[in-house]
Amino acid sequence: MSERETWATRAGFILAAVGSAVGLGNIWQFPFKTAQFGGASFLIVYLIAALGIGLPTILAEFVIGRKSNLNTISAFEKLGYKNWRIVGALGLFTGFWILSYYSVVGGWVLRYLGGSVTGAYFGAPAEYFGQISAGMDALVLHAVFMALVIGIVAAGIEDGIEKATKLMVPSIVVILGALAVFAFTLPGASEGYAYFLSPDFGALATNFGDIVPFAVGQAFFSLSLGMGAMITYASYIDGDQSLFGDGITIVFLNSFVGILAGLVVIPLLFAQGIDPNTSGAGAVFISVAGAFGNLPAGRIIGVVFFAVVLIAALSSAISLLEVVVAWAIDNYDVSRPQVATLLGGIIFTLGVPSALDTAWLGWFDTLAYKFFLPIGVLGILIFAAWVYGAPAIDELMKGSGLGDGVGLTWLWLARTLVIVAVVATLALGLQTLFLGENPAIIPPL
Ligand code: PHE
Repeated sequence: MSERETWATRAGFILAAVGSAVGLGNIWQFPFKTAQFGGASFLIVYLIAALGIGLPTILAEFVIGRKSNLNTISAFEKLGYKNWRIVGALGLFTGFWILSYYSVVGGWVLRYLGGSVTGAYFGAPAEYFGQISAGMDALVLHAVFMALVIGIVAAGIEDGIEKATKLMVPSIVVILGALAVFAFTLPGASEGYAYFLSPDFGALATNFGDIVPFAVGQAFFSLSLGMGAMITYASYIDGDQSLFGDGITIVFLNSFVGILAGLVVIPLLFAQGIDPNTSGAGAVFISVAGAFGNLPAGRIIGVVFFAVVLIAALSSAISLLEVVVAWAIDNYDVSRPQVATLLGGIIFTLGVPSALDTAWLGWFDTLAYKFFLPIGVLGILIFAAWVYGAPAIDELMKGSGLGDGVGLTWLWLARTLVIVAVVATLALGLQTLFLGENPAIIPPL
């Protein structure tokens, strides 16, 4: 077998990981969930979750990946714990699961990019969304989006993913920044800022039980944690860079882009007098798209906005496909383009129900958030902090230039508080999945 690929540069790895993190979660979900859960109150809880739970977890994934230089299943075996491959296998499965519906939403974005050029959705955004979000249209664009993802992954780590994300991630930041400046100029934007940035602790206290689990789940999804994407990306690191520094950079940039997206979307909605308390699959495609229809330069703004969403979606989707492709390449004598096409095809097929009916899409999404990702995170944390333990600190500190105290703090935080928080989140999520009148676990048959 040929030699395993690596990232050409440290910046290449960081940008690829930021590209994985920054995605539809930041733009399609985050601003709306923030709006729905009380603006700044949610923001605070989210930031605590990202730093307090997300950061220790991303470091755990980096350690497993860099130490083993293998895909998310074989990594556990290489570190000497064959039975723990089950955690990797769950991650692999979750990769198939998430990409299957993620790609359908990616297809919508492609469609809206075209729709912005022609102004197709300007008159009646809700009807337009109804037409294109499920059925033949959605299926075809789901296929187109998957083909783009396959194309990038097939080109390899350095020539495909690294080159692409080096271009994509800076573009996302620059374009969103420009859109945020534009939103600032709109009359009425200031109410949007007030809502987004001034916390309402009363609302937070009332909805604590809903806000906290969602914020934690969002932190996992948004940081691509719990399914081996960060294990896989870290497995291509060649050298002793500071994993700690990389982790902080990625968590910071990911939160920054989420907030930036909020600074675009929320003032835009307020300026148009649209209730920001819209949620569900269509929020961005109906409310925000509707706002573009009323703006003087709506077409241009629409094209730019959906272009940036597309770039963000693509740079995340490639990391999902890479999780499964890496596993196949490490274990079988197969070529990267062939495997990317084959596995991409299987993922496309798994996404067919989501493309035909948005109820399926919502079901896939709910299970990912409330079940697969938190369980995956829990497995990874228990493994890294309790099972692997001391060698994990050595790997984490290698090349960091930091004292051992930092490593020990990580280990004990991960062993205790972080795991307790994840268990609590999982328990709350499972409650809504399995109990109550309409348990979410039941598929929309
Ligand atoms: N983090 C991506 C987003 O926010 C989604 C993702 C989840 C990507 C898991 C890879 C792995 O859109």
